[in-house]
Amino acid sequence: MKGVILAGGTGSRLYPLTKVTNKHLLPVYDKPMIFYPIQTLIDAGIKEIMIVSGRGHAGHFLELLGSGADLGVKFTYEIQEEAGGIAQALYLAKDFVDNDNVTVILGDNIFQDKINDTVQRFNSGAQIFLKNVPDAHRFGVAEIEEENKKVIGIEEKPENPKSNYAVTGLYIYDKNVFNIIKTLKPSGRGELEITDVNNHYIRRGDMKYSILNGYWSDAGTFDSLLKAGNLVKNQK
Ligand code: G1P
Repeated sequence: MKGVILAGGTGSRLYPLTKVTNKHLLPVYDKPMIFYPIQTLIDAGIKEIMIVSGRGHAGHFLELLGSGADLGVKFTYEIQEEAGGIAQALYLAKDFVDNDNVTVILGDNIFQDKINDTVQRFNSGAQIFLKNVPDAHRFGVAEIEEENKKVIGIEEKPENPKSNYAVTGLYIYDKNVFNIIKTLKPSGRGELEITDVNNHYIRRGDMKYSILNGYWSDAGTFDSLLKAGNLVKNQK
């Protein structure tokens, strides 16, 4: 299993915090944001990790993280030249992932749950992690059949969500993910959407889900950044 952390984007919603540094290097309580997704992957036993960042301030990631030797892992770095969506950024990891499976985590997502069992058990297809939230319209939202443990479909930021289950920024895929990304067309916001990738696996009957019990937050807005910091602080 390889790991990929997607840390691209301009961080425009956090301007001016992101004027002279990258969003994923901002503090979440006592650590730079990207330390949290790195720890989630390390706790899952993943040792080969690619970090995909945008052009702005990309050198700061190397400066901060180095080779990974002091964490017992190996970091590889890739640059997303222009913001074209999560799926486009993931495609840059194709050669790195090669014939392996890949756990993908968004660099601004902070998870309390440990996912090592799910990562170890993963075989083929795809796996998403859902969280019951009060503001599902801000996210990808999954419609599920709990009795059959089946995902029916995912809608990206729907006005009227069909459930309260947000699709969090943590995904496991087999290597077919890259063939799927190749078939995608840009969405209304001009991006290759990870939700389109996931719906592809759902249509094929190849998608599993777990529901997270611990806290989860993205940290891409002022309020969610503050919330993430408080969640981490209160856990200590
Ligand atoms: C992205 C995904 C969305 C997911 C969210 C999790 O949204 O498109 O499906 O729920 O991450 O943080 P974005 O942050 O790009 O708006």
